Amino acid sequence: TYVVTENCIKCKYMDCVEVCPVDCFYVGDNMLVIHPDECIDCGVCEPECPAEAIVPDQDAKAAAWLEKNRDFASLWPNITRKGTPPDDADAWKDKPGKADLFSP
Ligand code: SF4
Ligand code: F3S
Repeated sequence: TYVVTENCIKCKYMDCVEVCPVDCFYVGDNMLVIHPDECIDCGVCEPECPAEAIVPDQDAKAAAWLEKNRDFASLWPNITRKGTPPDDADAWKDKPGKADLFSP
């Protein structure tokens, strides 16, 4: 599976949802997650994210986020169309330490 990591927090560009062939993205207050059991590992979303937030589960950055993706994909609504990203998305891009801003 692919995993959405902390780089998505407060960026939420949503380019990823437009390309997913199985519509397995779920949307929270300030980030998205991927349902690990629905993702077919196609990889097309990874290069679409301007924040480089999406990584394969073999990536070291995925470890801290895989279970959050699983848990919150079951709680948050599905999203299949790109909406409007936050006004300050670009200001949050590449900021370190965003994990603490995760909003369940
Ligand atoms: Fe969807 Fe493919 Fe990305 Fe998985 S890897 S979330 S199936 S676009
Ligand atoms: Fe997040 Fe990147 Fe998608 S910032 S919403 S994972 S395009």
